[in-house]
Amino acid sequence: MERVLITGAAGQIGSELTVALRKKFGADNVVASDRKTKTSIELRNSGPFEVVDCTDAAAVESVVKKYEVGTIYHLAALLSAVAEANPQLAWKINIDGLYNVLEVAREHACAVFVPSSIGAFGHSTPLDGTPQDTIQRPSTMYGVTKVAGELLCDYYHKRFGVDTRGVRYPGIISNVTLPGGGTTDYAVEIFYEAIRHGKYTCFLREGTKLDMMYMPDAIKAALDLMDADPAKLAHRNAFNVTAMSFAPEEIAAEIKKHIPNFTMDYQVDPVRQAIAESWPNYMDDSAARNEWGWRPCYDLPAMVKDMIDVLSKRLAGAAAAPGRPRFATETNFARG
Ligand code: SER
Repeated sequence: MERVLITGAAGQIGSELTVALRKKFGADNVVASDRKTKTSIELRNSGPFEVVDCTDAAAVESVVKKYEVGTIYHLAALLSAVAEANPQLAWKINIDGLYNVLEVAREHACAVFVPSSIGAFGHSTPLDGTPQDTIQRPSTMYGVTKVAGELLCDYYHKRFGVDTRGVRYPGIISNVTLPGGGTTDYAVEIFYEAIRHGKYTCFLREGTKLDMMYMPDAIKAALDLMDADPAKLAHRNAFNVTAMSFAPEEIAAEIKKHIPNFTMDYQVDPVRQAIAESWPNYMDDSAARNEWGWRPCYDLPAMVKDMIDVLSKRLAGAAAAPGRPRFATETNFARG
């Protein structure tokens, strides 16, 4: 069997997608890769692992050849707030890295899954019920790289016949890996703080609605889209997918049902607030539903219940450990 390669396997989505792909295709058929040498023991011990920096085209090609890779899940990228703090590096990783992966895919006939994002939209996009095909003029470097990436993937499909497919992920909430510096990270941080301290200071303003998704649905979206019948795909890069949309006070109210003493206040970060305001309040994902049967399993109450059940147990077990998780977005991005 042709093998699967995951880039950015140590990241927020990669660490869980690797586990799901190894379950589906067999551990030996799924090669996890990341530019970080320090990764979880599980990632390294549960199947093949390679150190690959996707900005190094020769390194990408060598691993594709070594394992006879047939499909690449290209997840290596910087998230929005980190990208805004370092736009030059964001271009290098998000665009040069993608270009290298697409070139290798063209030469070695690989299929490619590439995540886009709600960040691919901007102020001039209709932000309520954001259509699949609409104006995309983002104002962040992250968004610029995501739109360019969508176009590049479509180009490689039309021009060279590379089987490229992608989704526009909303904010992703997981109980395993912390996000690495995005605008939607508050929706993960809030659980750790609620369980440990009963309070959270939110960096987005009350009323800031954004699309969100629980990690099991994010994994399902990637797997289902890659399994889809290509004849049914009118679109490819990239499908709107969503599972829920909420503002900070709405997730806080849902958490309060489980942790009655929970309180939240606000200390707005102007950089991330401006980014959030340029993103959809909620997307229309009917193209994904119609073309490949997209259906999420978790809504807000189901996601909150599961997050609290899983994290409460894990954090209780770790209570003796000193310190607390450091969130990537504890940086004040206004300082750059
Ligand atoms: N979660 C991402 C971010 O906030 C959106 O794609 O950057």
